[in-house]
Amino acid sequence: MRFYAYICLLVALTVRGEVYYEEKFGDDSWESNWIYSEHPGKEFGKFVLSAGKFYNDVEKDKGIQTSQDARFYALSTKFPPFSNKDKPLVVQFSVKHEQNIDCGGGYVKIFDCKLEQKDMHGESPYEIMFGPDICGPGTKKVHVIFSYKGKNLLINKDIRCKDDVYTHLYTLIVKPDNTYEVLIDNEKVESGELEADWNFLPPKKIKDPEAKKPSDWEDRATIDDPEDTKPEDWDKPEHIPDPDATKPEDWDDEMDGEWEPPMIDNPDYKGEWKPKQIDNPNYKGPWIHPEIDNPEYSSDPELYLRKEICSLGFDLWQVKSGTIFDNILITDDPDHAKQVGEEVWRPQHEGEVKMKEAQDEEERKKRDEEAKSTSKDDDDDEDDEDEDEDINETDTADVPETGEEETENFNFGKD
Ligand SMILES: *[C@@H]1O[C@H](CO)[C@@H](O)[C@H](O)[C@H]1NC(C)=O
Repeated sequence: MRFYAYICLLVALTVRGEVYYEEKFGDDSWESNWIYSEHPGKEFGKFVLSAGKFYNDVEKDKGIQTSQDARFYALSTKFPPFSNKDKPLVVQFSVKHEQNIDCGGGYVKIFDCKLEQKDMHGESPYEIMFGPDICGPGTKKVHVIFSYKGKNLLINKDIRCKDDVYTHLYTLIVKPDNTYEVLIDNEKVESGELEADWNFLPPKKIKDPEAKKPSDWEDRATIDDPEDTKPEDWDKPEHIPDPDATKPEDWDDEMDGEWEPPMIDNPDYKGEWKPKQIDNPNYKGPWIHPEIDNPEYSSDPELYLRKEICSLGFDLWQVKSGTIFDNILITDDPDHAKQVGEEVWRPQHEGEVKMKEAQDEEERKKRDEEAKSTSKDDDDDEDDEDEDEDINETDTADVPETGEEETENFNFGKD
């Protein structure tokens, strides 16, 4: 028994993975390790070190916070290069949108060593982009983008991100068996195979271009009944002169023209005649296009592989600032990342929720007091956001400002 425990300990020690990069933003030292982009033509905002308005531990919970509204943010750091060959890759960090974000990114980008930090911008090639993105009620998702053969490939699944004001932990795990997991707050929210969930490769099978539906293939389930014929008395006019109408007394044929009764719908009108439908005796079911192996397809057993990882950066647009990033961890050990989440993120989250609730309670009391002492004529004037004053790109204009997801259609009244 003791021997077994010893072996376990040994295994645990040897298996304990490597931490490639870790940043807890504990003090001001980040300022010398991170570099702001000076890419021309954009107005970049500054990050400041802060635990925010509510926290568990004012020191430990410090992270870097976006501090100016309607700005781009571009900040990056470098570390010794590594490859995830034959090993898991774990990217983890926390995001707190304590400002109640309306539109802004909360993701990181992972680069190889070629990144020119002072010129980092939206088009700088990256290896992976991962994390939450919110813009209006229509975009609330977790991006997982891999660059592959010069293209940035978005995940084919929809992963919803958190949109409250608290700190949340985002974890991406990419494994050498070409599978992945996405965790939020240490819980798996998505997982699967890289090949299935991104368009890394062309499809394995395609429709056989040689195959054609035979011209005599019957795919109509029912046909007109050949026995059925149109009744002789079927055809009636759609409208008839109103039999009850009479010529008005003061009608003057000379002046008003010849009187004609108004037309009304014909109660005997039956519409277009259609023969009865019967089952098609030759029905064969829908024709299914046969598939063949796609000659363009060739598998890639190393979809997961990033040959060189060397840098991590924030390249964001934020309308309302105030987002705090913290506890960045890049490792090959998912268990270690999970443990950090439990030890660092969980108490932070629990503590800040308590503090925020206490603050809200205070506020509520204060407002009640004020309401009592003053007349309650002047109402809330909090909503003075001018959201779309500055837009990152042209096509943000179609983001709905209110209302539900894009599934909701407007119903223009029919009459
Ligand atoms: C603008 O920024 C928002 C927030 O990150 C993002 O969702 C949106 O896709 C961006 N639009 C363009 C055109 O880049």
